[in-house]
Amino acid sequence: MKGKITFYKELCLLTYRNKRRQTRKYLICCLLLVIPGLIKVAIAEDQQAELRKQALTVFTSLRADTIAPQGSSLAQISLGRVLFFDKRISASGKISCAICHQPEFYGSMDTSLDAGNPAPSRNVQTVLNASLNFANNWYGDQTSVENQALTSLVSESGLGHASQASAIAKIKAIPTYRKLFSAAFPNNPDPVTPQNWAVAIGAFERTLITPSPFDDYLAGDDQAISVEAKIGLSRFMGIGCIACHNGVGIGGGSYQKFGIWEDYWRVTSSGQIDKGRFNLTHDENDLYVFRVADLRNVKMTPPYFHDGSVQTLPQAVRIMGRIQLRKTLSDEDVKYIVAFLGTLTGKLPDIFSPP
Ligand code: HEC
Ligand code: HEC
Repeated sequence: MKGKITFYKELCLLTYRNKRRQTRKYLICCLLLVIPGLIKVAIAEDQQAELRKQALTVFTSLRADTIAPQGSSLAQISLGRVLFFDKRISASGKISCAICHQPEFYGSMDTSLDAGNPAPSRNVQTVLNASLNFANNWYGDQTSVENQALTSLVSESGLGHASQASAIAKIKAIPTYRKLFSAAFPNNPDPVTPQNWAVAIGAFERTLITPSPFDDYLAGDDQAISVEAKIGLSRFMGIGCIACHNGVGIGGGSYQKFGIWEDYWRVTSSGQIDKGRFNLTHDENDLYVFRVADLRNVKMTPPYFHDGSVQTLPQAVRIMGRIQLRKTLSDEDVKYIVAFLGTLTGKLPDIFSPP
């Protein structure tokens, strides 16, 4: 603010400095420039404060000091990390969680790479911040990352075991795991169990949290995000994206129909029509209903939507406006909203790397 006033004064000086007997003009100039300048600055600051105030009613800042302690031990977290990156424990011996949830792709997968594995049934979601979602997977059919880990043991989009028992047998056959499980679950005489596997994987995943510049902004740092991103934030709220994308994950907190105003597959050119939660419940109300995507790190995890049918973020944003809100977004809207979404990219946690 002080800087801006100085700037306006400077303008007057520049015009009248070297001209004698123009003090009056200089003063008038100051009145004309500095006072509106003051007002302008005050308004700008007011708007800034108002924007953040509104944002704080919709989103929750995610910072180290706002993350609840999780109560799992370091031994459990490091066991989870080892398991996450270990291919030997899969049915084929060729797959680990990290094959599909790669650190270099922000916990998602480079779909252009065919690792010679069965293609995942749906677009790979990131494991980053997954523990913040109210339910997991596109259908939201798992109530926690621990439950999700249990199903990962036996699912095709996972380690591919025929049963939990065969998975556990494979883990037990690797001598180091007896030690690691005993250290992680010291009071347990036979600690290699599906439940403890889930606890360890969950403990690790709960550390994969990525605070971003947007969180710094919410916490009060005006400089943390660009002016474009602030305009994008304002439009994201004004246009109505926040009806579904809100809370700490900027989404991930409810089930919603994908394609409220138009059939999604006509706009995304999806190859197959996925009926969403209807496939679980056989309730008409669940037709094409999915868990709302959380948008943290979304810029880093193309392609988009449950079937990966859309390649770029601007395209995904435009489609959302059209089929969720019946709004045709201008190029400018899209540009600013994408700038805002870019501020949701956090730093990869150091622990998200092979042990
Ligand atoms: C073959 C690829 C593949 C492997 C291997 C794999 N996943 Fe996934 N993962 C996926 C796909 C695809 C989804 C989306 C599943 C769905 O909705 O059908 C997913 C979803 C998830 C989610 C939910 C994220 C969210 O936002 O709700 C978590 C957590 C997760 N996986 C953890 C794991 C863990 C832990 C392992 C190892 C035990 C693992 N995955 C192995 C492909 C894979
Ligand atoms: C009525 C609820 C609703 C509204 C409003 C909404 N979305 Fe979504 N959004 C969803 C759902 C549900 C999904 C997951 C769709 C799927 O792939 O099955 C999603 C997915 C996305 C994705 C893809 C994420 C990914 O990882 O693939 C982006 C990006 C997105 N939304 C941005 C927006 C923007 C920007 C707006 C406002 C213009 C918006 N959304 C409005 C419900 C909504």
